[in-house]
Amino acid sequence: MTPTRREFLKTGAAAASALGLGMSACSPNAAEEQVRPLSILILGGTGFIGPHMVRYAQSRGHTLTLFNRGRTNTHLFPEVEKLKGDRDGDLLALEGRTWDVVIDNSGFVPRLVRDSAELLHGSVGRYIYVSSVSAYADFETPGFDEDYTLGTMEDNTVEEVTGATYGPLKVLCEQAVQEIYGAAATIVRPHYIVGPGDSTDRWTYWPVRVAEGGEVAVPGTPTDPIQFIDARDLTGWMIRLAEDDVGGVYNGVGPEHLLTMEAMLAVARDASGSDATFTWMDADFLGDQNASFPIWSAATGETAGLHQTSGARARQAGLTYRPLDETIRDTLAWWAEQDDERRSQMRAGFRMRPEVPGGPTSMEAMMAGEVSLLERWRAQTG
Ligand SMILES: NC(=O)c1ccc[n+]([C@@H]2O[C@H](COP(=O)([O-])OP(=O)(O)OC[C@H]3O[C@@H](n4cnc5c(N)ncnc54)[C@H](OP(=O)(O)O)[C@@H]3O)[C@@H](O)[C@H]2O)c1
Repeated sequence: MTPTRREFLKTGAAAASALGLGMSACSPNAAEEQVRPLSILILGGTGFIGPHMVRYAQSRGHTLTLFNRGRTNTHLFPEVEKLKGDRDGDLLALEGRTWDVVIDNSGFVPRLVRDSAELLHGSVGRYIYVSSVSAYADFETPGFDEDYTLGTMEDNTVEEVTGATYGPLKVLCEQAVQEIYGAAATIVRPHYIVGPGDSTDRWTYWPVRVAEGGEVAVPGTPTDPIQFIDARDLTGWMIRLAEDDVGGVYNGVGPEHLLTMEAMLAVARDASGSDATFTWMDADFLGDQNASFPIWSAATGETAGLHQTSGARARQAGLTYRPLDETIRDTLAWWAEQDDERRSQMRAGFRMRPEVPGGPTSMEAMMAGEVSLLERWRAQTG
């Protein structure tokens, strides 16, 4: 292993205006820094965040190895070393090798995270584990930080990943890494990760829908907060954590200052040059109509704090954000590049059972459902 601390000239990142949203739009300039090249092992690397991580690490001069089953996006990175194996029972390819740092993107089951963490102990200088804000016990408290209560499970032997177990399993995975690596463990808990390459379409729905124009049905109120992080901001920062050999637990969340749904949609409208108008509908009405929208949650009750997670500690550790309109433009450009079949079926978006089905659904079907929802809203509110 080469030493993991990098020596570099901190240049001070340039501040940039971010559309009046108060987001810091700075990103360290690699050209002006002297970064000590690291050897980085990524458990995963070919899904959504992995490719962004690989590209940023390459731009910083690091050497990468990807470990995965060789099933997902196998065409990517022919120039990068790929080790084939399975986290569940086949880690042979990792034996007898050393790296400066491992980044674990694909850990969901504590037993499997423990297996790789134990096998690599002594062979890597740092273990960076990608967890989730779902690790927290609840989202009732706006402004909660990394010390907030974590989720638990009644039976810690459960391995099935469901909506209910995903978060508590992440907690147990984190604990396995921390137990084995101590100060050499870094835990990152991202919020919704968005941007080019997101296969879920959860956040992508909003810029794509706004770009279509017309009257857009929107849940909640204009001032409801909304949080997410561009995959490129998240992964670039994680590589810099590796370069700086930074340990600890961090919420990987953005933006820097509270962003409202209204502000996000306004930037989406301006970025796409659409004529969209927005009609806001309260949560009770939407509940009565069996209607739902991705990403947004009511800023009250059980989800009062979901979109007000503190990212202060991560920012102190160097997390920076690109301007929102860049994320929106790049996501729209990526969406436009997808083939017709992919674009004809959004994997998330407006749903209103039974009229708008729950699975992949065309934008046309969602917009037709929206018209009907808007009519009912007007009938109720006059
Ligand atoms: N998306 C979000 O909004 C969000 C929010 C919070 C946290 N997170 C977390 O962020 C991480 C992001 O994942 P990503 O999919 O974007 O990462 P990624 O590194 O881009 O892709 C996942 C990789 O894992 C590999 N993999 C899957 N199962 C494997 C196995 N059994 N053995 C070996 N390799 C395996 C896949 O390749 P093969 O299929 O070829 O094996 C793929 O390369 C996850 O830990 C997730 O919990 C995501």
